[in-house]
Amino acid sequence: MALSLDRIPTYITGLDENMQGGIPKGHIVLIAGVSGTMKSTIGFASLYHAVLEGRASGIYVTMEQGKESLASHMKGMGMDVDDARVRSHIAIIDLADLRVQLDAQGVTQNVDWMGQLIKQLANYRDSIGFEVVVFDSLGAFFTLTKMENPRDEVFRFFEAIRRMGLTGMIICEMMGEMKNQFGEFGIEDYLSDGVIHVTMERSGDEVNRKLSVVKMRHTKHLMGYHPLDWDEDTQRFIIG
Ligand SMILES: Nc1ncnc2c1ncn2[C@@H]1O[C@H](COP(=O)(O)OP(=O)(O)OP(=O)(O)O)[C@@H](O)[C@H]1O
Ligand SMILES: [Mg+2]
Repeated sequence: MALSLDRIPTYITGLDENMQGGIPKGHIVLIAGVSGTMKSTIGFASLYHAVLEGRASGIYVTMEQGKESLASHMKGMGMDVDDARVRSHIAIIDLADLRVQLDAQGVTQNVDWMGQLIKQLANYRDSIGFEVVVFDSLGAFFTLTKMENPRDEVFRFFEAIRRMGLTGMIICEMMGEMKNQFGEFGIEDYLSDGVIHVTMERSGDEVNRKLSVVKMRHTKHLMGYHPLDWDEDTQRFIIG
């Protein structure tokens, strides 16, 4: 596979080869799926391998699950989260911690959460420098912050990521597979540059995960739904 410098690979075996090498830098890509479709693992594993290969460094913002729980899940999947390079190139920020701190100080009234988040990302970018942000997840962020106009805030967030020149992997929790809509707020789909959809399909008593690239701007990519499996030996997903 010819490596393209203006793309960040997903490190999903079988996908990058069929997606011109990966996600174009500066793109905002949704990783959408119902609970348990391995969205967090997909986001983390992409960043993990990009870091190990020296292609990028990044920030993983978690709200969906605590920092410790996230790290222990990734460790359980065979990823070496204690590796020095990983520790110094992936910052895991737990926004739930921030909320608890602010609650303790009694300052959660009228907090501009989105402004705070954007400011934190900008601070990190200026101090340590990073290219990729994984945001886990949009739904959890709005539940945590109880903001009144999530649509406006989603727009503001995506704009800020673009202005900072970051590549974003935004995890979206889908409530069901019924609607042909990948985000929760009805605007994420068209505000994003790419959508990766993960599903769990049941046939008889078997359940299998599948992945589809619904869209990826500026990219010729694989179409359709393909089996998604985790390869313990390489700590990478493989699609069939
Ligand atoms: N060692 C392992 N090897 C393979 N699969 C595993 C292993 N450990 C856990 N899993 C699978 O990973 C799933 C969780 O993955 P992940 O947390 O990435 O999903 P998610 O879509 O982010 O879930 P959530 O909606 O809860 O955030 C588990 O439900 C389990 O099926
Ligand atoms: Mg998750």
